[in-house]
Amino acid sequence: MHPTDRPRRLRADGIRDIVAETRLSPSDFVVPVFVDATTDERVPIESMPGHERVPVHEIVDRVEEILVTGIESVMLFGIPESKDEVGSRADADDGVVQRALRRLDAETDAYVIADLCLCEYTDHGHCGILEGDAEHDAHLTVRNDATLDRYASIAQSYADAGADMIAPSGMMDGQIETIRSALDADGYAEVPIMAYAAKYESAFYGPFRDAADGAPAFGDRRHYQMDPANCREAHREVSLDVQQGADALLVKPALSYLDIVADVRENFDRPVAAYNVSGEYAMLHAAAEKGWLDIEEVAHESLVSIKRAGADLIVTYFGETVAERL
Ligand code: PBG
Repeated sequence: MHPTDRPRRLRADGIRDIVAETRLSPSDFVVPVFVDATTDERVPIESMPGHERVPVHEIVDRVEEILVTGIESVMLFGIPESKDEVGSRADADDGVVQRALRRLDAETDAYVIADLCLCEYTDHGHCGILEGDAEHDAHLTVRNDATLDRYASIAQSYADAGADMIAPSGMMDGQIETIRSALDADGYAEVPIMAYAAKYESAFYGPFRDAADGAPAFGDRRHYQMDPANCREAHREVSLDVQQGADALLVKPALSYLDIVADVRENFDRPVAAYNVSGEYAMLHAAAEKGWLDIEEVAHESLVSIKRAGADLIVTYFGETVAERL
């Protein structure tokens, strides 16, 4: 007996690439960049090899390094010079992200997405305005609607500074409609919103919280970010963001949540983004440092998997590494 159907025929050199179902391109990638008001020089981020906190005067050079690999887009995160209860520096006209946006707008062709959240700007590290006397309150909560007012103001401030797209990541209910109407009211009807629609309360954000200095000083984010156990709830979150006017839908993290990426791809008609987060990056680098994995191979395979699951866009710290090989 010999098999008549032999899938191996299409795996030979020469044909294997031709029949590949998924192909990566540098324009699939969005690279996160940390702009830091507290430093005059680039500071390497220990848990994220190859990434740095960059001062405003270096931001154009940093983004140019990314653009030469063929990548067209970056996502900006800010580390402000000071923090307070309400995150005042997040919507300051001379805030660190605003200054970086102006430089990038004037001096580069990058498509710049501004992550919008309060955790890097509040002294307590939560993504919004706290209820009551937080430090002594056992039942700490972030006030949803008071936080929305802050998000509206930050969105306007980022648009004023030249952000090409706004990406709210705070997981407050109603954040998309609030930001949409704030932008429209200010004459920014053409600025799209990429909603972090399904963002999970994930332990894979650890290295980012070191990088952006945004770990909660107490408590956790369980009362606003999603439970990793839930899939139907993601569907509900995404539906709400679509109804509220989200232009693109982001799932975060990516690799442990590929079922969610596939579900959003299947059921909604907006572009889908997936955020290959800091922990997903750091664990592969840690294994590679021990000589247990080949970093370029696993980076490429990770991004192929995320695209195969249905992502149109991949926010990833691996962007440059993989783009350079394509
Ligand atoms: C919050 C935000 C976080 C990340 C992106 N935006 C951290 C959090 O929710 O705690 C994590 C990204 C990563 O881990 O790479 N503004």
